[in-house]
Amino acid sequence: TDCYAVIGNPIAQSKSPLLHTAFARQFGHDLRYEAILAEPETFRETVLAFAAAGGRGMNVTAPFKLAAAELADTLTERARAAGAVNTLKFDPDGILGDNTDGVGLVGDIQDRLGVPLAGRRILVIGAGGATRGILLPLLQARPAGILVVNRTAARAEALAHALEAAGRVRGGPLEAAGGQEYDVVIHATSAGLNEGEAPPVDYRVAAGGLAYDLAYGEDTPFMRQARDRGAALAVDGLGMLVGQAAESYRVWRGVRPDVRPVLEQLQLA
Ligand code: ATR
Repeated sequence: TDCYAVIGNPIAQSKSPLLHTAFARQFGHDLRYEAILAEPETFRETVLAFAAAGGRGMNVTAPFKLAAAELADTLTERARAAGAVNTLKFDPDGILGDNTDGVGLVGDIQDRLGVPLAGRRILVIGAGGATRGILLPLLQARPAGILVVNRTAARAEALAHALEAAGRVRGGPLEAAGGQEYDVVIHATSAGLNEGEAPPVDYRVAAGGLAYDLAYGEDTPFMRQARDRGAALAVDGLGMLVGQAAESYRVWRGVRPDVRPVLEQLQLA
């Protein structure tokens, strides 16, 4: 039996055990997947002990994604761009750190929702860790351009600057959205969770466009805002959650699970 785990704090809420168990069932793989609670002081030793006991890989969630990047011996390009690791793979020659969030998002948008990103105008609201995790895979989908807007403009400008070589990306204050039309608008701030409000950004969603909230919820404040601004299709981040898990599974085991039935199972739960 191959052993995997997700590590974080808190961890009880994690859907990862359910997702990976469902993927394993699709392939008839014999694996065990557990949830591990760690403290900042015990994170490193807990990961190393899991690997030493024969563990094959781990998912890493808050607040350990940066610590996981430091612990890994090698980082993939997308983990380096993200500055964070959500997937560890324990190989005989060392620990590989990867980040599957961005590919999970891009796959959800293009493959599940059927919205192509090539040549499209993308607006990303927010410039924190979540945005940093998705920008490189978004750019690799060859959009016409990405505008990142943030309450603190300098953070958006810094993220854009760091990825200039990878494609057309600019950063600015929330006002930089300028009331323009975008094909895809992605909400990646921590505002607007629960009863909060989405940041006040002036944009229009083009006909046939998409509004995507990285947060989860049946009807988030951002989804409501985006519908007011023309989005016929507004979704939450559950598809990305399943997508990043599926990509982790592929990194570990070389096969790509079918996300659709697992997402449907989550939506019904
Ligand atoms: P995460 O890892 O979830 O992205 P983070 O790195 O702390 O968390 O980033 C939070 C993001 O939400 C930032 O873009 C932050 O804007 P600032 O950089 O200006 O702080 C944004 N954010 C949080 N609360 C917000 C609010 N009330 N209005 C607008 N943006 C907000």
